[in-house]
Amino acid sequence: MQEHQSVDAVGVPAEALRSVMAEFAAGVTVVTSRWQGVPHAMTATAFSSVSLVPPLVLVCVGKRSRFYQAVTSAGVWAVSILSSDQVELARHFSHSGRDLMTQFEGVPHVLAPHSRSPVLLGAQAWMDCVTYAEHDGGDHTIVVGQVVATGRDSGATRPLTYHRGTYS
Ligand SMILES: Cc1cc2nc3c(=O)[nH]c(=O)nc-3n(C[C@H](O)[C@H](O)[C@H](O)COP(=O)(O)O)c2cc1C
Repeated sequence: MQEHQSVDAVGVPAEALRSVMAEFAAGVTVVTSRWQGVPHAMTATAFSSVSLVPPLVLVCVGKRSRFYQAVTSAGVWAVSILSSDQVELARHFSHSGRDLMTQFEGVPHVLAPHSRSPVLLGAQAWMDCVTYAEHDGGDHTIVVGQVVATGRDSGATRPLTYHRGTYS
């Protein structure tokens, strides 16, 4: 028997959406930026490719996150697609209490060529982006980026995924 949520003018409750989206197996990224000389980062699964010509990707950024102000102010950012052995980094960059000034200490990374945002060593691949458009997305902003540089780690094996609240 299927479960159904009733639909009304304001849509389903947040918990209903959270519950069904947990069934979507997502890849895991760490999105980074550099603003006022400080590197910022955020674990994100709301990431997608958008267009090949021009080359566009998007990430949905919560308006209450500290990363929101950084990425919308800087206008440049990078994405690292995590590999399966980077679970602790995914947890680290989603922990709301972490110290912004020390969050990259002990995290192996290099700087992306254009944005100078950190890209994580050992990630499957990375993209360096310039913001192309921003769209309102409720409590998030949809940040569309034009990809200006890419790289991949030939040694990385399997991507990290997130499903039903569990990394695998
Ligand atoms: C698996 C996972 C995926 C997440 N995906 C997103 C996302 O796509 N967009 C977003 O805004 N926050 C996402 N978050 C929450 C942020 O990682 C979290 O709010 C982070 O602490 C924000 O950091 P900041 O406040 O320092 O910017 C996700 C968290 C987890 C655990």
